[in-house]
Amino acid sequence: MTIRISAIVVVDSERRLVRGQDGFPGQSPKERRRVKKLVSGHAVLVGKATYEKMALGNFSLPKGTLLVVLTSDRKFKAPGCAVVRSIGEAGLFLRSRKGIKEIFVIGGNSVYRQLWKHFDRLYLTVTSDKAIFDQPLFPEYDGDFPKVTKKKKEKNGTFFVLERK
Ligand SMILES: NC(=O)c1ccc[n+]([C@@H]2O[C@H](COP(=O)([O-])OP(=O)(O)OC[C@H]3O[C@@H](n4cnc5c(N)ncnc54)[C@H](OP(=O)(O)O)[C@@H]3O)[C@@H](O)[C@H]2O)c1
Repeated sequence: MTIRISAIVVVDSERRLVRGQDGFPGQSPKERRRVKKLVSGHAVLVGKATYEKMALGNFSLPKGTLLVVLTSDRKFKAPGCAVVRSIGEAGLFLRSRKGIKEIFVIGGNSVYRQLWKHFDRLYLTVTSDKAIFDQPLFPEYDGDFPKVTKKKKEKNGTFFVLERK
């Protein structure tokens, strides 16, 4: 069975990833609800810095969601989560688990960049809320994800689902 690899990301209206102070794709209550709904019961891969921000921001994922944290730190422990030491190990671990249909990558920038070529789908929020951003780092995505399967106007921006092919 093919496993879909997706990214959930919030970008500014210049359409580049920019960091938020409590930076994960879930800064507004609405965005948090969306992330939780999307990932519920699936696997989520996250870099250590973003994981720590999620923990600080009390942003927990729904029960039954497998959270996998990427770090080279051999002593690092994340209660209730799996910890992997490389992208390769993440792939092996996730493929070894039964029933995974979609893996959601929810940041941070370093992980988006490393896995960019592997993403089949982007769940992308483009927001005009500049206040939460500071660092434009996201790769170009227009050419890579030409197919728009969902576009929903919201109060401060637009939510898209984009497919690689
Ligand atoms: N706008 C959005 O949608 C969104 C979403 C999520 C995050 N963010 C932003 O992204 C920022 C964090 O991004 P970041 O790039 O600084 O950090 P990150 O990707 O969350 O975490 C980086 C850490 O993950 C580990 N890691 C990454 N790749 C690895 C690999 N191949 N092998 C082993 N470990 C690996 C390393 O931990 P060790 O150093 O312990 O080895 C690395 O220092 C946050 O400030 C947040 O605001 C934005």
